Amino acid sequence: MNILCIGAGYVGGPTMAVIADRCPDHRVTVVDINPERIAAWNSDTLPIYEPGLDEVVLRCRNRNLFYSTDIPRGIKEADVIFVSVNTPTKTFGAGAGKAADLQYLEKTARSIIEYAESDKIVVEKSTLPVRTAQALSRVLHSNSKNLHFQIVSNPEFLAEGTAIRDLENPDRVLIGGMSSPEGERAVDIVAGIYRRWVAPEKIITTNLWSSELTKLVSNALLAQRVSSVNSISALCEKTGADIDQVTAVAGRDSRIGAKFLKAGVGFGGSCFKKDILNLVYLCEFYGLPEVAAYWEQVVHINDYQAARFVRNMLAAMFNTLAEKKIALFGFAFKADTGDTRESPAIAIARQLIDEHARVTVCDPKALDNARKDLRDLSGKVEYTSDPYAAVEGAHAIALITDWKLFRDLDYARIYAAMEKPAFIFDGRNLLDGAKLHGIGFNFYPLGKPALTHF
Ligand code: NAD
Ligand code: UGA
Repeated sequence: MNILCIGAGYVGGPTMAVIADRCPDHRVTVVDINPERIAAWNSDTLPIYEPGLDEVVLRCRNRNLFYSTDIPRGIKEADVIFVSVNTPTKTFGAGAGKAADLQYLEKTARSIIEYAESDKIVVEKSTLPVRTAQALSRVLHSNSKNLHFQIVSNPEFLAEGTAIRDLENPDRVLIGGMSSPEGERAVDIVAGIYRRWVAPEKIITTNLWSSELTKLVSNALLAQRVSSVNSISALCEKTGADIDQVTAVAGRDSRIGAKFLKAGVGFGGSCFKKDILNLVYLCEFYGLPEVAAYWEQVVHINDYQAARFVRNMLAAMFNTLAEKKIALFGFAFKADTGDTRESPAIAIARQLIDEHARVTVCDPKALDNARKDLRDLSGKVEYTSDPYAAVEGAHAIALITDWKLFRDLDYARIYAAMEKPAFIFDGRNLLDGAKLHGIGFNFYPLGKPALTHF
């Protein structure tokens, strides 16, 4: 088969690489309107950092995996078209700040009808509001060439930093389709791609609307767990309880489960916030204001947690951060990615600058993105990938991203290089507090008692 993916981003790029790797007899092409992105996919420096990705791409590129800007040709030749374009939160007009901006999806659909010369299966890979397939089908069938398109929903559940592992060994693959014979055939063709390496019992088929909604709900439930734990971390700090102890024991209940209960400075990433806000918008649209308010609280707690982290720093450092140098350890929204979209580091850096602190950002993979995110603060923020340079003369370290490298540093050397009293605010509960306290630091973890020398 000729498989096309429109959108060469964090999802399209890695997902198609794994499909090409596992299906050597299919020809997989990934196209994008952004020529720099395509050039990067064809270069030695891929546009995204993802462990294991380079190896997979190198194995398949120019064998049965092609990255191209030739969208018309890609569409003409394709049997199956995955649509993996961005679906950000709308910033204008009706639903601004909550609804999904579907312009890129609709433009893609219009390109498909412009260039298609035969019937095709169109797969929704992007995360979309429930019932988008209906609109997509209407746009596609407005063609005057008498072409027919089967819409299939196949949302992606990969997480950044573990994308290749998640794609190669998914918990489940979800495929939604129409219950007509043609719809079932289309679902079977898409399922056939995954059956090459995914066990049949993990390939789940549903109707289109369940599939579209399941993706939003899965992200909402994951984000809700993080906000639930973060809200309790605030209560732990007031009461002397330890959030890691609380979640470790609560998570031992098999009904609760141990994963995704780690307190932190708040969830980031391009999707949790936008998908919950989309869910909120849909609930409001369908006349369910109580349900909308319930889910919106997940986002409120997330904003609160980042703001609370900075307030705690301010209170601990004698209520003034003015002219103090703060080393931000990490800017990516999580470890093992260079992605900074919606990273809590952005809000935290801005709030520290509002307090007139001097901020030095240190991250092994995310400095280019950090510079873009804080572009308007140029002159007020410094950037380095060397943690030892970042802490030179610093009053405090604020650990934002759970990069393993931050755990393995020589903290005695770091302590010697810092102003005294020296502070560490561990926004991920990553570091060994007792050891750092022993070195001389005033150590502030999240959701557990501080270890100070005052
Ligand atoms: P991204 O912004 O990294 O990539 C989207 C790409 O689509 C961009 O390169 C853009 O240039 C391209 N594009 C936009 N309009 C186009 C058009 N008309 N024709 C051709 N190319 C076009 O986004 P992403 O992170 O890959 O996310 C894509 C979708 O997948 C979103 O709906 C997102 O919610 C969903 N998703 C993302 C993740 C993730 O981890 N990032 C995981 C699961 C699902
Ligand atoms: C998330 C989901 O995990 C994926 O299943 C989904 O496909 C993807 O969103 C998407 O739709 O985009 P991702 O955002 O890449 O993946 O990364 P996660 O591992 O989910 O982490 C999200 C954020 O939550 C990070 O900032 C992380 O640090 C934070 N987090 C996660 C916590 O603070 N505590 C936890 O216990 C887990």
